[in-house]
Amino acid sequence: MSFTVIKHPLILDKLTRMRKIETASKDFRENLNEISQLMVYEIFRDVPLQEIDIKTPVIEAKGYTIDMPVVLIPIIRAGLGMTEGIQRLVPTSRIAHVGLYRNEETLEPVQYFAKKTSDIEKSYVIVVDPMLATGGSASKAISIAKNWGAKQIKFVCLVAVQKGVDKILNDHPDVEIYSASLDPILNEQGYIVPGLGDAGDRIFGTK
Ligand code: PRP
Ligand code: URA
Repeated sequence: MSFTVIKHPLILDKLTRMRKIETASKDFRENLNEISQLMVYEIFRDVPLQEIDIKTPVIEAKGYTIDMPVVLIPIIRAGLGMTEGIQRLVPTSRIAHVGLYRNEETLEPVQYFAKKTSDIEKSYVIVVDPMLATGGSASKAISIAKNWGAKQIKFVCLVAVQKGVDKILNDHPDVEIYSASLDPILNEQGYIVPGLGDAGDRIFGTK
């Protein structure tokens, strides 16, 4: 059971840009992808490696390769904004999708899409969504991944509140949670404060 805030000056600077109301969609998306990359760089310290024999132009040598398939599960919509950056770092990663939206009154997640990858049970699985608010969406996405057979699961977000963290720790104590920030408040509308607004709308320019 773990929750880690990944602290780094570059992440803090980029997250502050994302929080600003005047930041346009293009900059918002770029910073989201860059922070996702920086976080995954840290998180992948425990990824299993296999030693392999290679031939350089000069000599035969030992090298290393990631020893497990990697599967990203973005929670549509906002999680999609994190995948491009992560796939640039881990080009062999595959993507399964879970589509959820929150009912505006109950804040409960409603599922409208799910598509798995074939090798998920033996994969290093990362569920991604920039926002961890009540935790309903993340917990549901993780349950879907487990129903598909996923065993080694991490959840990565940018902005979390304690309520959402507690929900995942309670529902899925085996899942490691990583965030770039722990914000203080969830308001009555279910928005994180100070947060960064509606992440999906800011990524896709829908408002
Ligand atoms: C947002 C966000 C998360 C969810 C977090 O999605 O991207 O998926 O809310 O809230 P929760 O922790 O209380 O469940 P939203 O429902 O707004 O859908 P969207 O990404 O399509 O905009
Ligand atoms: N979803 C968002 O996009 N933003 C919030 O602050 C909370 C949930």
